[in-house]
Amino acid sequence: MRLQDVRSRVHIRHGNFCDLKVLVADCGVRLVDGVIFDLGVSSPQLDRAERGFSFREDGPLDMRMDQHEGRTAADLVRDLPETELADVIYQLGEERYSRRIARAIVQARMQGAIETTGALAAVVERAVPASYRHGRIHCATRTFQALRIAVNRELAVLEPALRDAVDILAPEGRVCAVSFHSLEDRIVKHTFRALANGPEASVRVLTKKPVIASDNERRQNPRSRSAKLRVVERTSKESMS
Ligand SMILES: C[S@@+](CC[C@H](N)C(=O)[O-])C[C@H]1O[C@@H](n2cnc3c(N)ncnc32)[C@H](O)[C@@H]1O
Repeated sequence: MRLQDVRSRVHIRHGNFCDLKVLVADCGVRLVDGVIFDLGVSSPQLDRAERGFSFREDGPLDMRMDQHEGRTAADLVRDLPETELADVIYQLGEERYSRRIARAIVQARMQGAIETTGALAAVVERAVPASYRHGRIHCATRTFQALRIAVNRELAVLEPALRDAVDILAPEGRVCAVSFHSLEDRIVKHTFRALANGPEASVRVLTKKPVIASDNERRQNPRSRSAKLRVVERTSKESMS
């Protein structure tokens, strides 16, 4: 409805970021002036319990951004060996109690399937020390983040997608990426830096430091507190694609 007035100029396509080139070509477009990656999970996904992203409300342990394909978080929690679970929770969640949590998940799943967000959150709560249970963020936050990233292979598609976006940029076109946690931001930073350096450099980085939300914006929208924006601009005259 919001796009009513510009309907003739808007094409909506559903797909993964890593299929950007195909999706853009499918719209009959070769080069673009700008690409915005608004990464991560969206507020409606978090707020709707049935999508299974949130430990605040009970729902099926799903977490797939595209519910038509792939394994759910419940599948991973059921199938991954303990060490792999611990690695996922440590690497993608940067969770210091990853080993305890993985052990607790394996013990709990022997008693019965962990199929809801509430059940997983309860397992995490039992696994971590009491002081951590009452910390600044909910003690299951990092475990949920890790499983979400693993389910959606979010980090794996990011670098290729950013490179593809730069490939289809017209001269002076820009790619903007908004990330929401340090693992994502690191990939954006390194990919942009790599594309801006060396003899084949095709862009320049416009944001030496990432742009972050002002105090005012953080107050109005607390979820903006972890957002970081980085931007590159196409430098070369010739188009690459
Ligand atoms: C921060 S939200 C975007 C919200 C949107 N800008 C809005 O204002 O409603 C990020 C969205 O990107 C989607 N997403 C994350 N990774 C993706 C990927 N690799 N391919 C396609 N979509 C992805 C998520 O499903 C989520 O809906």
